[in-house]
Amino acid sequence: MRFTSFSALFLSLVTLATCQDTNLTDVRTAFEDANIPDNTTLTFQPSVLFEVSFPQTSGDAVPVSAGVQLARNVTASPPTFSVLNTTIVSPEQPLVIAMVDLDPPTPQNTSLAQIRHFLGGNYFASDTGELTNTTAAISEFLQPSPPNGSEPHRYVFLLFQQSRKFFNQTLVNSTTSIANFNISQFADELNLGQPIGGTFILVGPDADTNTTTTNTTTTD
Ligand SMILES: *[C@@H]1O[C@H](CO)[C@@H](O)[C@H](O)[C@H]1NC(C)=O
Ligand SMILES: *[C@@H]1O[C@H](CO)[C@@H](O)[C@H](O)[C@H]1NC(C)=O
Ligand SMILES: *[C@@H]1O[C@H](CO)[C@@H](O)[C@H](O)[C@H]1NC(C)=O
Ligand SMILES: *[C@@H]1O[C@H](CO)[C@@H](O)[C@H](O)[C@H]1NC(C)=O
Ligand SMILES: *[C@@H]1O[C@H](CO)[C@@H](O)[C@H](O)[C@H]1NC(C)=O
Ligand SMILES: *[C@@H]1O[C@H](CO)[C@@H](O)[C@H](O)[C@H]1NC(C)=O
Ligand SMILES: *[C@@H]1O[C@H](CO)[C@@H](O)[C@H](O)[C@H]1NC(C)=O
Ligand SMILES: *[C@@H]1O[C@H](CO)[C@@H](O)[C@H](O)[C@H]1NC(C)=O
Ligand SMILES: *[C@@H]1O[C@H](CO)[C@@H](O)[C@H](O)[C@H]1NC(C)=O
Ligand SMILES: *[C@@H]1O[C@H](CO)[C@@H](O)[C@H](O)[C@H]1NC(C)=O
Ligand SMILES: *[C@@H]1O[C@H](CO)[C@@H](O)[C@H](O)[C@H]1NC(C)=O
Ligand SMILES: *[C@@H]1O[C@H](CO)[C@@H](O)[C@H](O)[C@H]1NC(C)=O
Repeated sequence: MRFTSFSALFLSLVTLATCQDTNLTDVRTAFEDANIPDNTTLTFQPSVLFEVSFPQTSGDAVPVSAGVQLARNVTASPPTFSVLNTTIVSPEQPLVIAMVDLDPPTPQNTSLAQIRHFLGGNYFASDTGELTNTTAAISEFLQPSPPNGSEPHRYVFLLFQQSRKFFNQTLVNSTTSIANFNISQFADELNLGQPIGGTFILVGPDADTNTTTTNTTTTD
């Protein structure tokens, strides 16, 4: 008995320490519970586990599990990407990765949605599942920065199979406004199809700034 409960505790500690997604059904459920398919007008039926991880200046990188809330300072560096089940993704298949904020400026007023936080193509899976790009990103990574007083925002990472049309796309470049982006429209126009994987995080304003916020700013 005592041995069993010790094992269970040890297991749950290990799970916390390596908190990445391991179950596609759970990822899909987390997306649905957070209304992400509705709010993005995407169909989310993932076939691969898409792993996102934030490198830290000291210590281990912080892996993402769908729907986890991260402190803003943990998300400062551009994340790294991988896929768990490489048998589905051929090493010759180029991939597109997008990260969008669904809740700007606040979840109650999404007049700026979506904000494009990252968009890059020509990612290829190595045999260990790491995704490496062969060209620079179209939109470089921007750290989540929800305004003071906001509830946490949903930042969604999506993995698409790259189309031929994407290769010469002119819809988005480094000077295109990051606000009022529509990943569903972008995917439609470039024949990317629906995402084959995804995950998401919640990030609120810095805790020390949020505690001093008055009630008046939380109404928008
Ligand atoms: C994934 O989780 C669901 C319940 O959330 C469970 O029914 C299913 O068996 C799990 N699948 C795998 C491959 O572990
Ligand atoms: C997100 O989806 C939910 C459920 O359909 C809906 O109630 C909510 O208004 C949507 N939010 C936005 C910003 O579209
Ligand atoms: C993030 O900020 C919190 C609160 O100020 C602090 O405890 C933590 O060490 C910081 N983490 C990093 C990675 O800077
Ligand atoms: C990887 O995908 C293959 C083909 O769909 C499947 O048979 C296998 O169980 C998957 N492995 C894992 C670890 O999910
Ligand atoms: C991969 O993307 C990063 C971020 O845009 C960029 O700095 C790097 O040069 C790219 N790699 C190649 C080989 O283009
Ligand atoms: C992209 O455009 C170049 C120059 O117009 C063309 O040579 C190339 O075939 C195009 N690539 C694709 C994949 O359509
Ligand atoms: C960048 O895209 C915008 C449209 O978003 C377009 O007006 C502009 O000409 C493009 N710039 C370059 C250098 O291609
Ligand atoms: C985004 O584009 C899709 C078409 O792919 C459209 O159905 C949807 O209404 C658009 N969303 C917004 C907020 O414009
Ligand atoms: C910030 O404060 C608001 C109002 O008290 C609260 O709803 C929200 O969850 C807080 N955000 C964070 C990241 O703590
Ligand atoms: C957020 O609130 C803190 C404390 O009131 C303030 O110091 C900071 O400048 C504010 N940040 C922004 C972006 O308004
Ligand atoms: C914010 O508003 C809520 C509900 O109106 C109230 O209960 C709470 O005391 C207010 N907080 C502050 C700091 O004014
Ligand atoms: C929603 O946010 C926008 C951008 O910050 C702002 O201009 C607008 O006044 C807000 N609308 C409401 C109803 O608060």
